[in-house]
Amino acid sequence: MDPQTMHTIFSLVISMALLLPSPTTSITKCEFPAIFNFGDSNSDTGGLSAAFGQAPPPNGETYFHSPAGRYSDGRLVIDFIAESLGLPYLSAYLDSVGSNFGHGANFATAGSTIRPQNTTMSQSGYSPISLDVQFVQFSDFHRRSQIFNKKGDVFEKLLPKEDDFSAALYTFDIGQNDLTSGFKLNMTTEQVKAYVVPDALSQLSNIIRYIYGQGARSFWIHNTGPLGCLPYVLDRYLIAPAQVDKYGCNSPFNEVAQYFNGRLIEAVVQLRKDLPEAVITYVDVYSVKYTLITQAKKYGFQHPLVACCGHGGKYNFNRYMKCGAKKGINGKEILIANSCKDPSVRINWDGVHYTEAANKWIFEQISNGSFSDPPISLQIACQRI
Ligand SMILES: *[C@@H]1O[C@H](CO)[C@@H](O)[C@H](O)[C@H]1NC(C)=O
Ligand SMILES: *[C@@H]1O[C@H](CO)[C@@H](O)[C@H](O)[C@H]1NC(C)=O
Ligand SMILES: *[C@@H]1O[C@H](CO)[C@@H](O)[C@H](O)[C@H]1NC(C)=O
Repeated sequence: MDPQTMHTIFSLVISMALLLPSPTTSITKCEFPAIFNFGDSNSDTGGLSAAFGQAPPPNGETYFHSPAGRYSDGRLVIDFIAESLGLPYLSAYLDSVGSNFGHGANFATAGSTIRPQNTTMSQSGYSPISLDVQFVQFSDFHRRSQIFNKKGDVFEKLLPKEDDFSAALYTFDIGQNDLTSGFKLNMTTEQVKAYVVPDALSQLSNIIRYIYGQGARSFWIHNTGPLGCLPYVLDRYLIAPAQVDKYGCNSPFNEVAQYFNGRLIEAVVQLRKDLPEAVITYVDVYSVKYTLITQAKKYGFQHPLVACCGHGGKYNFNRYMKCGAKKGINGKEILIANSCKDPSVRINWDGVHYTEAANKWIFEQISNGSFSDPPISLQIACQRI
């Protein structure tokens, strides 16, 4: 064997070992004792519902069999993450009924943005619990949980221990609403790129620095999805045929999402330099979702651009009659935006969010690290590679 071939084989073996950590290598699982999640509706397990009223039925129908604070028929990616780490589903920090924070807390709310909005929720639909507020809530939770933990009794069971804060996994899925908020203010794609994206990412980076400052070390950050393929965008923003891609998605919106993601990875690279003890995994959820939507049939799904639960129109989406909307007919309340027959073969749940079946598929793609930078699996996302 010539030296060149030897070298090639040697490098191949090394890179395989790095890329495919298997149980036979010395890398050990992380045993995360808790998860602290920050985000929007993609990972809200009850925050907005606790503060502003439950997401109505048929949300939750597939898995929880009643509304469960999630905008989906069932579990979200964050639920599958918790399950696979052997942890219970995350209680929403704002939920005062039946919550157990012993293994973490969820600060995400549907409609959250990174940048605080200058409009109320009734004006624009965005949650007032933007990322800066989520951080304030986390800090307060951290401090007060330790005071109450010392009281023992039931508090000790329902609250994390101090060590859990540094050993926990900190997950983020936020940014999509910052992009749409720019478009709602009639900004052009160039304006959203120039003004919204840099400001949002600098605020996100600062929050990650503050959380690190409180002892957090392992971060798992989802990039933003192809919002140009979602019914609520397709229904609202009419564009020239030339701006529609061959799968029917809105290209300018997807380009802005990809631009955001490009700047996000740069921000992550900078954070790795600034925070030497942090292990930050960047997860390319965009590619997974886009693959699912554009190759739906191949993966056993149907009608990728049509909401399962909604009311009418090309995309089965009407922003005035969203999933769960009722109408009084002859003194009776009739559900007029109901679920489709079989959500298990559908990708889009309500025009904005994904079905449980899609969330499960997305989780399966991302959990082994094949869409992560660095390419490490969820189980070892505390290990420096
Ligand atoms: C809110 O208003 C302030 C002050 O004008 C501005 O700096 C900020 O960018 C605005 N935020 C959003 C999300 O538009
Ligand atoms: C955006 O443009 C639409 C249509 O011209 C207009 O009705 C709306 O008031 C504008 N919104 C803002 C926030 O300027
Ligand atoms: C990760 O999981 C997906 C879905 O099960 C699979 O297609 C892919 O080959 C896996 N990748 C690696 C590197 O194991």
